[in-house]
Amino acid sequence: MEQKLQASVGKGNLAIIVDGVYSMDGDIAPLPGIYSLAKRYNALVIIDEAHATGVLGLRGRGTPEYFGMHGKIDVVMGTLSKGLGAVGGFAAGPKDLIYYLRHAARGFVFSAALPPATCAALIAALDVLEHEPEWVIRLRENADLMRQGLGQMGYDTGDSTTPIIPVIIGEEITTHQLTRALHALGVYVSPVAFPAVRKGTARLRVSVMATHTTEDILKALNAFEKAKTMVPMLSEITSSRKLEEVLSLQTSVAA
Ligand SMILES: Cc1ncc(COP(=O)(O)O)c(C=O)c1O
Repeated sequence: MEQKLQASVGKGNLAIIVDGVYSMDGDIAPLPGIYSLAKRYNALVIIDEAHATGVLGLRGRGTPEYFGMHGKIDVVMGTLSKGLGAVGGFAAGPKDLIYYLRHAARGFVFSAALPPATCAALIAALDVLEHEPEWVIRLRENADLMRQGLGQMGYDTGDSTTPIIPVIIGEEITTHQLTRALHALGVYVSPVAFPAVRKGTARLRVSVMATHTTEDILKALNAFEKAKTMVPMLSEITSSRKLEEVLSLQTSVAA
């Protein structure tokens, strides 16, 4: 990024545009480093919080809150369709920019406004987030339990530290077989293949919710264990660690 910024000096206004939480790997953008580079090169920072709103930070305010940088980022945008459970999006930033977007952004100029029922649902979701921060904690605990359980069974969860948990399989065919096996066992996951991710890194995307119970998570882990016997290729890429061992570790984490 620094090389690109250096190469762009003098060529116009600079902006660094990043996701807060990456949608396919569940890792978090290193915002403090990005911010100090932006300061050094006089660049704006624009962050897409699609997967961070309602997820990161003690109050679910997103990536800037997570890094103790709430209010420091030039433009924070996001969707209302994920953590907040409705539809629509937002952009927060300098007044001039918001004025410009109101008059120039395609989604704003050429689409109908959000229906009142959607707005009411979103206001209710924001109220929950503001007054019941325990859901954000619960979400993190559930995600940690799921990620650690999968990891200990030998599944590769990459660099995820969030409720987006990739289970990186590699081969597309094995990924689809595992998806089907898990669906048959009552666990909903979605397969992700090229071009959404690089070739050879096909994966499942497991999304954990705040409303899942510990029992739900353990049931899902159990299904991942059973699926090993249903998808022959899996034994080559996961460890032979038995679920009972993993569960005894997990229940002590949960306790
Ligand atoms: C990083 C990112 N930004 C924005 C969006 C758009 O969200 P929506 O479908 O609510 O417009 C998505 C949707 O998946 C996303 O992953």
